[in-house]
Amino acid sequence: MKKTFSSLLLIFVSAWVIAQRADYRIIPLPKSVQTDTTQFFTLRSGMGIAYDAQNPQIAQNAAFLQQWVKEATGVELALTPSDPKAAVRLILGTQADKKSKKNRKKQQPQQLTPQQQESYTLTVGSGGIEIRGPLPEGIFRGVQTLRKSLPVKQLSSVELPFVQIADQPRFTYRGVLLDCGRHFFTVDVIKQFLDVMALHGCNQFHWHLTEDQGWRFEVKALPDLAVKGSVREKTVIGPGNHRIYDNVPYGGYYTQDECRDIVRYAAERYINVVPEIDMPGHMLSALHVFPNLGCLGGPYPVAPYWGVMRDVLCGGNPETLTFLKTVFGELCDVFPSPFIHIGGDECPKERWQKCPKCQAKIKELGLTSDPKDDGAGGRGSQDGKSAENKLQTYLNHEIEQFLASRGRSIIGWDEILSGGLTENAIVMSWRGTKGGIEAAKQHHRVIMSPNVYSYIDHPQLKDYSKQPQTTDSYQVSCSKIYSFEPLIPDQLTEEEQTCILGVQANLWTEHVAFPEHAFFQLLPRLGAMCEVQWCNPDQKNFESFKARLPQLQKLYDKLGVTYCRSIE
Ligand code: ACM
Ligand code: ZN
Repeated sequence: MKKTFSSLLLIFVSAWVIAQRADYRIIPLPKSVQTDTTQFFTLRSGMGIAYDAQNPQIAQNAAFLQQWVKEATGVELALTPSDPKAAVRLILGTQADKKSKKNRKKQQPQQLTPQQQESYTLTVGSGGIEIRGPLPEGIFRGVQTLRKSLPVKQLSSVELPFVQIADQPRFTYRGVLLDCGRHFFTVDVIKQFLDVMALHGCNQFHWHLTEDQGWRFEVKALPDLAVKGSVREKTVIGPGNHRIYDNVPYGGYYTQDECRDIVRYAAERYINVVPEIDMPGHMLSALHVFPNLGCLGGPYPVAPYWGVMRDVLCGGNPETLTFLKTVFGELCDVFPSPFIHIGGDECPKERWQKCPKCQAKIKELGLTSDPKDDGAGGRGSQDGKSAENKLQTYLNHEIEQFLASRGRSIIGWDEILSGGLTENAIVMSWRGTKGGIEAAKQHHRVIMSPNVYSYIDHPQLKDYSKQPQTTDSYQVSCSKIYSFEPLIPDQLTEEEQTCILGVQANLWTEHVAFPEHAFFQLLPRLGAMCEVQWCNPDQKNFESFKARLPQLQKLYDKLGVTYCRSIE
């Protein structure tokens, strides 16, 4: 009896001790982790973080580390920039720099591949914790790794097993889309969204800013656009098939100052904001304000229901390009992103086929339909080289040239393949991987975002009663996302595979009106997606992912975000 009691006590005490130890089996899994669990470094309150105080980015990383260690464990570290003996040291440079310190040869950032620019090493030994990276963004990733390895529990100290971690991402584009057109999310919610993205190592926030149901970006030269175009009179209730409305006006838009604040907040977390103005379809909110830009002249209400709308920007009216250049010009003033998303999806051509202006422009440009194409378009059927699809390519070309003059490249949804790709277009493949494969074969850059693996507006569980109402068709479970291989090795050569920049999860919000629901849709599916984005295929194992998830969920709890507790 006595023996049983002491064994139980031993189990209890060792469980308690283990619970205070760091565990490097995190999400996404680093490339190389060599742990020595026989030796530990003990991190305690009052210990310091050393860093280069002259470098504001490194100083910001140090402040994040201090904040996150305290949030997770209660251990309060001090910022001690110039203490070479500090317990935690953030060092700009590579391991190679460290070795060649004697001859003072430093590896230049331009010699680094994009993946190496985000690389870091994390070393725990008797002298403490060292995070080293060639650039501040690598150090930031290393700081996140340390944060995620810590026990989430209020403690007086944490034991860290000795370790050598060397890590860098597989893909350089690791994105998440948030649709703020269908529903508007406040600046505070967007910042929380960015925090969650950073926790998962994501680096591209695709901000879908305009939709048939609402225009969300302030354009100073066109003040009515956001003021009037952001408001719909009512919203369809439920799945939408029965067209029953709530009769409550709904609106909201972001001022340019707010957008700049988001850009700054994202940049501190090494996230680029890719703004999207979806054109020439999905434009009813703009047509509401400028009905002269539609083929029929209006009036056009801001759409109160979901779907693909027949009314789109007139492709033959020269004022359309003037409008677009004004909008994209101001967009470039606000967003420094090297790529700007111009949409291009779901633009039915029925209006263009009958519009005198569109047809006159087609004639002027000498565009002709290739055989066997009616060009009518519609959801998923905007394929084929019709004269009308070529007119869309003409608009894309004009905008591509305009944005190139501002030093930017365009990204478009895979429908931009239909009338022929413009010179430098990046294709975002959403209707499966077919468009991405075709674009890569044409040596265009590609972002894979195929609906069946990446559309996190879809249900994550089989049983619909266990989740809020969402886009009601196929399931996109964690295991489905996890199984995605973006390089499509059976269809793309090694050279073609180099065109695949990365992968993106898309959160469309027709049925997602509240932040709690948005985070439920996002999590933990972003956990599965981030291993597709970050890890090599030979590192991936869904059972191992599931075993590592509870630790990440504790951080979701700390951040105060909702998440789906079942995983399929
Ligand atoms: C899309 O889902 N229409 C890009
Ligand atoms: Zn027209």
